[in-house]
Amino acid sequence: MNWVTADKEFSRGKIVTNGNKYMTGNGYMGCRGTLEEFGKEQLAAVTLAGVYDQAGGKWREPVNAPNALFTRLSCNGKRLGVLDAEPLLHKQELDISCALHKRETVYGISGGELVFAAERFVSMDQLHVLASRLSLTATADCRIELETGIDGEVWDINGPHLYGLQEQNAAGMLLASAVTGELALQVAVAEKTVYGFEAQETAGEGARRFIAFDVKAGEVYEWFKYAAVYTELDCSDPDVLAVQNVRTAEAAGYGQLLTAHREAWAARWKRSDCLIEGDDAAQFALRYSIYQLLIIAPTASEKVSIPARGLSGQVYKGAVFWDTEMFMLPFFLHSDPGTARNLLMYRIHTLDGARRKAAEYGYLGAFYAWESQDSGDDACTLFNVNDVFTGRPMRTYFRDKQVHISADVVHGIWQYVAFTGDDSLLADGGAEVIWECARFFYSYAYYNPVKQRYEILDVTGPDEYHERVNNNAFTNALVHRTLEVAIECSELLQAMFPERYQQLAGQFAGGPFLKEFREMLDGLYVPQPDPDTLLIEQFDRYFKLEDVPLAELKARVLHPNEYFGGGNGLAATTAILKQADVVLMLNLFKSSFSKEVKQANWEYYEPRTEHGSSLSPCIYALVAADIGSPDWGYPYFMRTATVDLTGESKQYVGDLYIGGTHPAANGGAWMAAVLGFAGVEFDGETLRVQPALPGQWTAVELPLSLRGDSFRLRVSREEITVSSAAGNEGALKVCASGSEDQLCRPGTVLTLRTAGAAGSNVSANTAE
Ligand code: BGC
Repeated sequence: MNWVTADKEFSRGKIVTNGNKYMTGNGYMGCRGTLEEFGKEQLAAVTLAGVYDQAGGKWREPVNAPNALFTRLSCNGKRLGVLDAEPLLHKQELDISCALHKRETVYGISGGELVFAAERFVSMDQLHVLASRLSLTATADCRIELETGIDGEVWDINGPHLYGLQEQNAAGMLLASAVTGELALQVAVAEKTVYGFEAQETAGEGARRFIAFDVKAGEVYEWFKYAAVYTELDCSDPDVLAVQNVRTAEAAGYGQLLTAHREAWAARWKRSDCLIEGDDAAQFALRYSIYQLLIIAPTASEKVSIPARGLSGQVYKGAVFWDTEMFMLPFFLHSDPGTARNLLMYRIHTLDGARRKAAEYGYLGAFYAWESQDSGDDACTLFNVNDVFTGRPMRTYFRDKQVHISADVVHGIWQYVAFTGDDSLLADGGAEVIWECARFFYSYAYYNPVKQRYEILDVTGPDEYHERVNNNAFTNALVHRTLEVAIECSELLQAMFPERYQQLAGQFAGGPFLKEFREMLDGLYVPQPDPDTLLIEQFDRYFKLEDVPLAELKARVLHPNEYFGGGNGLAATTAILKQADVVLMLNLFKSSFSKEVKQANWEYYEPRTEHGSSLSPCIYALVAADIGSPDWGYPYFMRTATVDLTGESKQYVGDLYIGGTHPAANGGAWMAAVLGFAGVEFDGETLRVQPALPGQWTAVELPLSLRGDSFRLRVSREEITVSSAAGNEGALKVCASGSEDQLCRPGTVLTLRTAGAAGSNVSANTAE
């Protein structure tokens, strides 16, 4: 099976997109897939999770650490790098089985050729450590000079963020240490280069050194770089720890570090790899999507969540959006519930920021940030897009009106509790978040005395091209769910954690609380399917908008980067939507709607969807699978699963770089394959499987972590096999294609025929 993606030649045009494609990381830091000699112009970056800074009154963004992987080569006095000399051969590759990045470049030198190879990884075993093995060999004698060390000139969109850079070289141990401007947090990077050949070493500028040596034709020269990164968020003396870590890494040696790193990766894949039989392209794309999620998963911290562009740089302010709860969480729930919990704890830790935002707008409770960073205050600006025609900032309403974010957070928390059975999350702050969000919606809603119903007015739904609309079906349905959850949560908390319940009930005694939530729930308007057309109107008067075909709307475009939304946007007065909205709602509440309703809305909304967000196509794949038309969904799945492999996404808007990786699409690809095509659904009690495999797929197989127990599921067209690990605690109820529930006991394998298979629903329960 293929685990490697590679480029077999160097292309300047791909420097930026390859920086994303070849990303490595470990949730603590992300390292862009740039080459050793690259600097800030090529967007080399080691982006730190959860460390933010504001500079020059511009928007806050994550901090990039000084780059300890920097290495530049000169041969016989001439610089040798892909930007200076046309390579004879060049290969860049990434092994996603263990996040190992490699490059090999062959240059012409006087009298022969020189091969430069470098391999590196961001340790999954020791989250602060990076290591690299480099080598060269030539067919002619030559004189080489390496310039290597820590590059303190880091890429910033809105920098500089690091001040008072102190660079030292203490007997070969390099240290670059600086302080962020806003919060004065120290960031320290240490590095040591180790080699066994004869060379002359001299100090270079800053934290760099020159290593010069004579190369004999045919001999291999190999050296190693060990580096470590710490910030004051980790400890009080980051420079001391960074240096200590490098010493320990050097003592362990590259081989041992790599072995431990590989083992940590093997453990990650063991609990998350998903096999697709019969379709190698889909298999690789899905694995690659999972890889992208694994390199950014905050396994070790509940103070950070996953930003919309992962750890691939500073785009989108390194902010956390609804993307995490709605598009990434399901993957973690099924494979790594501990990380899923961390993601939700992040929302609990940022509740005060959400309270401040609600209060700022005159509401009660918690209005979560549309773009959330370390404190939970909203990083989203009021003018989030520049008008390409006038150059003026455009007033957008993402921050003020995408109120569904608070409902998305509640949905995430409740999914976690129902799925894992870990109701301690509620006592640890989850219940307070849920109730504060419900209180927010109670204060946001309007009661219409004529229609005698609560309405949610003046919002922006997932389709951002239509701002400030009334009764967006998605938003109203999620607010409805928030109120239901708020009530269910009170029952659960009372039963499980009565003291905590009493304490919180006291805190909210002045209301609005459960009584008001019930009253609003009973009277809340949620748009329903039209009895004749079965269509759900996306928001009030949506059907009155100009119904222009997408191609015609695109023909009206005057500037390649013009924004379709906002006050004057091309789509704003038409029925063209940016991304799945009603269809996303149908996916979230799939058991509440008939197949006919789902199909009618899919067919109506899909041609009107621009898929202007990478979050959109996977939802159409999911609903296509749900209605039994997986082949409709397949192209949307492939588009989603390959977004970071092909680089086919917008990289710039005007002069603003908006590229990076797409974790929501990565999570969406997993959802489409597992929850969509394999048809997996777990409600905390019963595992239901209703497969709808696309054309070439013969089976999907994956490990599942359900309520603390481990299972392996195989879904083919004919049968469903569930293996329950011997050490599991209890029997699992399994239901295949709507048949009667069967029990899968610990240490057994349960095989069920699918509805489509001959002699359906025959079950066999065999001991392992
Ligand atoms: C989408 C949002 C998404 C954001 C970050 C926007 O283009 O419309 O739904 O949250 O990107 O991924």
